[in-house]
Amino acid sequence: MNILILGASGLVGSNCMALLGDEENKVLGTYFSYEAENTVYFDTLNIDNPGNYELDDFYPDVIIHCGALTHVDYCEDNEEESSQKTVQSTLNAIDLCKKYGAKMVYLSTDYVFDGKSGPYFEDEPVNPISVYAKHKLEAETKVLESIEESIVIRITNVYGIEERNKNFVSRIVEKIYNDEEIELTLPYDQYATPVNAFDVARVIQVLLNDNKTGIYNAASTDYLNRCQLAGIIQKHFPKAKIKLTPVSTKELNQPAPRPLQGGLKMDKFLSEYPDFVFSNVDDFLNDLKFKMQ
Ligand SMILES: NC(=O)c1ccc[n+]([C@@H]2O[C@H](COP(=O)([O-])OP(=O)(O)OC[C@H]3O[C@@H](n4cnc5c(N)ncnc54)[C@H](OP(=O)(O)O)[C@@H]3O)[C@@H](O)[C@H]2O)c1
Repeated sequence: MNILILGASGLVGSNCMALLGDEENKVLGTYFSYEAENTVYFDTLNIDNPGNYELDDFYPDVIIHCGALTHVDYCEDNEEESSQKTVQSTLNAIDLCKKYGAKMVYLSTDYVFDGKSGPYFEDEPVNPISVYAKHKLEAETKVLESIEESIVIRITNVYGIEERNKNFVSRIVEKIYNDEEIELTLPYDQYATPVNAFDVARVIQVLLNDNKTGIYNAASTDYLNRCQLAGIIQKHFPKAKIKLTPVSTKELNQPAPRPLQGGLKMDKFLSEYPDFVFSNVDDFLNDLKFKMQ
């Protein structure tokens, strides 16, 4: 299979790139503003941009679409830009799938739910409460409607190895290794199911190998709020200079409303893959400490 990863310079895309290439599968990963190692330029908002990599030379069988505007609060204040970068970019990726007869894997979110009664199964009623969430739902719906052989993977609170260490866990660990003082003001009432980006890539790998279609959650065994997540990091690095101030979401007054009781249930995937073992935040931090020794 030829697997094209749109947004391989990001967290999920780079982990897909690290895992999915092998003797049977060729992988091509794209970047937009940050040229990550072994990626080629491709702008999903302007697929006719002459600077784009010539996809006819690769002819993908699968397109994994990881591109989106992921800053939830920024999206709330910039609705049109959010729509372009999440919905229009997905419509363009759908056109590419149609052109090459490719399957699509689309990365979505637990934010499609309102967070009143999570964690959620795949088939529970959706009710997005922010601009970002509405656009993610619109995009995943378009994918499912337009491409028969598509998979939507819902994820939340992703952490893991990435070149830029942008994700919450890696960002804090980097500061700890730089011996920085870290002040965190975090909500104690936003619950989710953090997942390692490498496990998301493993989920995509088995689903693609078995020609699965439809919506699948990808989450780990952790069900944590942000303070608890920071607490796990602190436990692994007891000498870290972390000052944590727990606050309610109401006090934080973020521009975009957040699902409070979010997160995703794994019963569907695990009933199909009972031997699949997800790692958790402890595993990730243990590995990281071992590698940094
Ligand atoms: N991270 C999470 O906790 C989380 C949770 C739920 C859902 N998701 C979803 O999972 C997907 C991947 O998230 P992520 O955390 O890996 O995001 P990320 O690290 O921000 O990566 C986003 C990727 O999209 C690319 N991109 C942005 N604009 C583009 C454009 N116009 N053309 C082509 N590529 C473009 C970026 O390229 P450059 O960086 O090179 O500009 C980057 O490679 C997203 O759809 C996100 O909504 C993520």
